[in-house]
Amino acid sequence: MKILRISASDTYDIRHKMLRPGRPKETTIFPGDEEDQTFHLGAFDGNKLVSVASFYFEKHPDLIHDEYQYRLRGMATLPEYQGQGHSSALLKMAFPIIKLNLCTLLWCNARENAMGFYQKVGFERMGEPFNIPQIGQHVLMFRKV
Ligand SMILES: CC(C)(COP(=O)(O)OP(=O)(O)OC[C@H]1O[C@@H](n2cnc3c(N)ncnc32)[C@H](O)[C@@H]1OP(=O)(O)O)[C@@H](O)C(=O)NCCC(=O)NCCS
Repeated sequence: MKILRISASDTYDIRHKMLRPGRPKETTIFPGDEEDQTFHLGAFDGNKLVSVASFYFEKHPDLIHDEYQYRLRGMATLPEYQGQGHSSALLKMAFPIIKLNLCTLLWCNARENAMGFYQKVGFERMGEPFNIPQIGQHVLMFRKV
């Protein structure tokens, strides 16, 4: 496995397949994708991109103790590559980059069925589950970096 910095547009196919199936392609473009402080990482099997994650300089209003925070979005691994450590490897690569940006916390709105993954990689949950229309139940999760 190889991890590289990728562009926002490189993430769109996997995002669409795994996170927005059947929805218009435009729904795979997230606000802030092209911001200077945003970065996108990809895990490769040979030359094939198999897992993606995106990181945005964005503070969550309920996480008041850390002034500078990053948000994780678009975390997804192709089905045939899941359970092989790709997503956790992307996060391990991201933590020092976030720290170098002088941020101390990473958070995400986790899908309920992915909560177990985030717990395995050190995230804690906060608050009650909430619904994101057309996507489903989510819970706020965070991790110190
Ligand atoms: C959730 C997801 C991103 C995990 O990616 P992955 O590359 O399979 O994750 P890893 O292989 O790095 O998993 C790390 C650990 O978490 C576990 N894990 C992975 N997905 C899990 C899940 N949904 N529930 C519980 N544990 C999970 C793995 O078994 C592994 O455990 P181990 O360290 O004991 O072996 C992937 O399943 C996925 O793309 N799901 C569909 C899209 C999605 O829901 N994304 C999250 C949006 S919030």
